[in-house]
Amino acid sequence: MKVSTTPLYANEALGRAVTFYSSGQSLTIPKPIRNYHYKIFRERHDSNYMISEFQSQALVFLARAIGAKRVLEIGVYVGYSAMIWSHAVGPQGKVTGLEYNEEYAKLAQEAWKDGGFENIDVHVGPAAETLTKLADISEPYDIIFIDADKTGYSGYLRQILKMSAPGAKNRLLRPGGIIAADNTLRQGLVAESGPDNPWRPADFDNPDSSQAIAVAAIREYNDLATENDRLETLLIPLWDGLHLSRLVD
Ligand SMILES: C[S@@+](CC[C@H](N)C(=O)[O-])C[C@H]1O[C@@H](n2cnc3c(N)ncnc32)[C@H](O)[C@@H]1O
Repeated sequence: MKVSTTPLYANEALGRAVTFYSSGQSLTIPKPIRNYHYKIFRERHDSNYMISEFQSQALVFLARAIGAKRVLEIGVYVGYSAMIWSHAVGPQGKVTGLEYNEEYAKLAQEAWKDGGFENIDVHVGPAAETLTKLADISEPYDIIFIDADKTGYSGYLRQILKMSAPGAKNRLLRPGGIIAADNTLRQGLVAESGPDNPWRPADFDNPDSSQAIAVAAIREYNDLATENDRLETLLIPLWDGLHLSRLVD
């Protein structure tokens, strides 16, 4: 057995080429959903909020591999990743989105209506509050995707675990369900925030800088998930880091 292999790729250009090639060798995302991604990318300054196409392929694969029919998404933006989940679970499945920005939620709803995505709902409001209102759901979720405010991640995880206690009525996440948390490496800063990381922002030493706050919050989340006996975790060093946690009990 090898002790270790080269973890990623030698430089950014090679990383991009490998990503492009890998995406071409992976399942197909339907054209209308890809077109929506391009449209948002072209038209909006904040389009980097969206997951990438290659990550979308991975999420569809993941959802189908575990036979997911119900997905809860925390952080909807203008509705792209919810379309991905909708496609993954199929028309018999259900996607619930939580988003606190009314304008984003409205744009998302319009896009879902235009695209004929009938199995997605969005609840507008701060996710921590909305989550508590989901306590009376009829069926647990198979996947919970966390992609919102980074300082909220640990709180969301605690809430999800509390609302998914073994044997509890109306649990939020089913046993064997997956919590997928996005941006859990933040350009590698979570693992390496020293001079070896070319993406280290100039103001990173300031604990009040936005990136320092986000990185501290994500480190807390990663440790919380990894050290919890109820979860089995895998932090995938692709995209901006995707931390998968399988609920064991
Ligand atoms: C990275 S974007 C989500 C992108 C989306 N998942 C996609 O890939 O298409 C994060 C979203 O979380 C929302 N958000 C931030 N804090 C939130 C909170 N406390 N409650 C609910 N939504 C929040 C933001 O308004 C933003 O739309």
